[in-house]
Amino acid sequence: MRGKFITFEGCEGSGKSTQIRLLSEKLTAAGVDFIVTREPGGSDVAEQIRKIILDGKNVSMCDECEALLYAAARIQHLKEIVEPALAAGKLVVCDRYVDSSLAYQGAARGLGEKYISDINSVALNSYPPDLTVFLNISPEKAFERKHGADKSDRMEQQGLEFHNKVYAGYLALVDKYPRICAVECGGTKYETAERIFSLLKDKGVI
Ligand code: TYD
Repeated sequence: MRGKFITFEGCEGSGKSTQIRLLSEKLTAAGVDFIVTREPGGSDVAEQIRKIILDGKNVSMCDECEALLYAAARIQHLKEIVEPALAAGKLVVCDRYVDSSLAYQGAARGLGEKYISDINSVALNSYPPDLTVFLNISPEKAFERKHGADKSDRMEQQGLEFHNKVYAGYLALVDKYPRICAVECGGTKYETAERIFSLLKDKGVI
């Protein structure tokens, strides 16, 4: 049987990496066959594209180029990593996916949903996630928690106004797509992890 595809989304510092690590521990303990991967990157070619996108020195990159590079890294990663794992029946857990493009490039950069959907049509039509976990924490709170932004990262260099637009973009996506479930991050990281694991069970992903 084909595997399931779940993605994690959230603003900078929302705790995705921590939650994916805690989920991995629970999945291993439960004997689930899974892989963890990430965007942009996750494969050799896509990691090279990632370096170009996130390089803080590439200040002249235009918004369309940025969106197309994310889409290019995505399709490479889908074909090289995600598709074979799903075909082998594995659960694929991916750190960021097309909703990041809709929130960052579509909403915050202002390219709009249609442009982003068009350049990501293969991802949206052929590889829709079975479930997307959105870690719901505002950029203010998230930056506070991680003690400020990483200034060498081109996306983190963007100011709070930009990240607030990303957050608003995500909230609109949560309203629009039932596959995206917002998880509140108020308590401890272990409480959040427990909530996520229960969600996966409730949704029949594991
Ligand atoms: P990363 O260091 O992986 O950030 P995080 O740990 O917050 O996930 O860098 C990924 C950056 O790329 C992050 O700022 C979000 C951004 N991004 C987009 O703008 N569009 C996209 O489609 C994707 C996948 C990521």
